[in-house]
Amino acid sequence: MKIFTTIADVQAQPRGKLRVLVPTMGALHKAHGELIRIARAAAGKDGEVAVSIFVNPLQFESGGDYERYPRPEKPDEEFCRKAGVDFLFCPSPAEMYAEDRSVFVEEFSLSKALEGKSRPGHFRGVCTVVAKLFNILAPDAAVFGEKDFQQLAVVRRMVRDLNFKIEIIAVPTMREDDGLACSSRNRYLNLKERKQAAVLYKALRAAANASGKLAGDLVARARKVIGEAPLARIDYVELVDAETLQPVEMAGPGSVLVLAVFFGKTRLIDNIRLG
Ligand code: PAF
Repeated sequence: MKIFTTIADVQAQPRGKLRVLVPTMGALHKAHGELIRIARAAAGKDGEVAVSIFVNPLQFESGGDYERYPRPEKPDEEFCRKAGVDFLFCPSPAEMYAEDRSVFVEEFSLSKALEGKSRPGHFRGVCTVVAKLFNILAPDAAVFGEKDFQQLAVVRRMVRDLNFKIEIIAVPTMREDDGLACSSRNRYLNLKERKQAAVLYKALRAAANASGKLAGDLVARARKVIGEAPLARIDYVELVDAETLQPVEMAGPGSVLVLAVFFGKTRLIDNIRLG
């Protein structure tokens, strides 16, 4: 596995092979392993799988968890090696951002709902870093997890509107045995919080299995299940259209139930398609 920390070194590499990128912020776990597996399948044995590890300061709101975000560099490197990654890019913040940077990439529609309301500036940070990674690594395809449902929609919109010639491959959410969506942030949960966090998937499934279709009823049902966990504090539970991310009144083809819930200081997100 080749490891690069500078943009100049990446861009000095000869190209020719199909390259599939898995952008990450590190603290790699089995869901990243799945993204890498899908990337390998897309790249084929002659292509190359590139992983970027960069904890992007721009996408953390002030007072957020940027400083405490886990950075297990050596274990992450080992994880990539074992997963058969060809090319690892782990730049420093100074390598990625000039001190006097003054250009950002912002999506102005899909970004405004849901996460965008709770985390102003978050998607501007995501779009800016993903656009930079696309320019630096010039992949033919890039792989993103469906757990970050809104991120996926925003990145797809950016690719469309800025004409990146990059295929975006979506990978279904990987879950722990009790249904909790795998996330690097799960490691912040203490034992009690971790146990109660299983309620999130239970709530999504309760709504998905409901016989009614009215958004109000489905959201109420999910909220009731989440209410069973005394440590849970709901940020939002909404039924939205998967493409526009606008609220819908009825579950149907293309609707998705999305939620964000705090356990202590840790904010977890998840979603399920309905209809
Ligand atoms: O999903 C993530 O890990 C990050 O938002 C991403 C896409 C790597 C950009 O920093």
